[in-house]
Amino acid sequence: YKNDPLFPKNFMWGASSSAWQVEGAVNEDGRTSAIIDINSKKKKPYTDNSITADHYHRYKEDVKLMAEAGFSSYRFSISWPRIYPDASGVPNQKGIEFYNNLINELKKYNIEPIVTLYHYDMPVWVDEMFNGWYDRGIIEKFDEYVRTCFREFGDRVKYWLSINEQNMQICYGEWLGVCKNKDTWFEDKWKVNHIMNLCHAKAVIACHELVEGGKIGPVPGYVPIYPYSANPEDQIAAMNAEELTEKVWNDLYAHRKYNGFIQSYWKENNINPGIQEGDMELIEQAKIDFFALNCYRSNTAKACDINEEPQEYLLNKSGVKGNLIFPKVPGLYQLTYNPFVEYTDWDWEIDPVAIRYMLRYVWDHYQLPMMITENGYGAYDKVSPDGKVHDPERIKFLRDQIYQMGLAIMDGCEVISYNLWSFTDLLSTGNGMAKRYGLVYINTTDEELLDLKRIPKDSYYWYSNLIKSNGRNW
Ligand code: BG6
Repeated sequence: YKNDPLFPKNFMWGASSSAWQVEGAVNEDGRTSAIIDINSKKKKPYTDNSITADHYHRYKEDVKLMAEAGFSSYRFSISWPRIYPDASGVPNQKGIEFYNNLINELKKYNIEPIVTLYHYDMPVWVDEMFNGWYDRGIIEKFDEYVRTCFREFGDRVKYWLSINEQNMQICYGEWLGVCKNKDTWFEDKWKVNHIMNLCHAKAVIACHELVEGGKIGPVPGYVPIYPYSANPEDQIAAMNAEELTEKVWNDLYAHRKYNGFIQSYWKENNINPGIQEGDMELIEQAKIDFFALNCYRSNTAKACDINEEPQEYLLNKSGVKGNLIFPKVPGLYQLTYNPFVEYTDWDWEIDPVAIRYMLRYVWDHYQLPMMITENGYGAYDKVSPDGKVHDPERIKFLRDQIYQMGLAIMDGCEVISYNLWSFTDLLSTGNGMAKRYGLVYINTTDEELLDLKRIPKDSYYWYSNLIKSNGRNW
């Protein structure tokens, strides 16, 4: 294009968080434990969410900083164990009060709340009662929970998100706490996934029933997958990877049926996904209004032999092993290193074009409005001797990504909002407070609890300038 991209007039600019990663106050006002509180600590003892950014107590200060930056949206999640601390079916008024206060505070500054119903924090009591997502009993309890959210907050919250990154929860089942039995997980995951689909469907239906003017969508974690070369077999491998990490979910949400690829895959591998009578009719009713998309990076796939188990792939930068999605799928694809992109300190591909590719792809396939609900740069930020936090790499990352999103809009995609990850620093899923994403620095470390002072980073001011001009001041 000859000119810089232009953004639609009512485009919503904001940032994103999730309850268990930002709130802290895990034992306060009636909240009971979530499985992720325990699992993350088990994995790495410093991954402790009991305080993190302490947003639960400091939300007013945080929202004020958002308003000063010119935010028009904020995407956050509601914590299920705060609303339902136990199985009694009686919601916790204190939990409801917290979200009422947060929503009212946002509304005071004309910031549109975009609310995720489930972002990894399964209540321990649900897990004990229903073995997590393994037992269909969870569907009714999930329905009870989401209906309470719609009734309590639906007068002010019009944009709802069902389940955060269901695809990633299935792909990284063990890590995100949904995989219970390693030996049967290859088959179990499709049963678990089906139950999650039913919960998603319930949420969509209930939202339309209870929230006047309410809109709801799913939140896939989207990692575009490129073929390693022009070898036609690499192209098919990339398509296979795309199916098994993303498209199977997105087709289900948008078309409300399982696509041909996955049905054939189940048949070939003798997998029973646990579909019962009436399930597909329920899913059929769950018409989504938009796609919320989380995008950080891209992956690259090449063909692999039918007799070969895919291997962990080596990244060029540090020689560490890269992420391996779906390890036991011989013959379908092998993820590999991409020589055309840079990598972050955590070996995530830095690839701004991925966001344009994703938006084009999702728009072409589903013709539904889209919003970005996560996109960001994790780094070891430090406070400089001048008391400021200089984060030029994050500014470059965000500028490049937002520019590419703008190009996708110029290409004809309907995008309504951009919410980067994250507003303040918060707990990373696997790297404590050390992997910082925020526009605002939180003064604390994994080793030592400090004063939790908020220090806007250089990126905060850059972003503020950009969004106040509706994407003109690059
Ligand atoms: C997204 C999740 O996939 O990635 C967030 O929705 C997460 O919860 C984010 O924090 C970044 O991942 P990480 O592991 O760097 O925290």
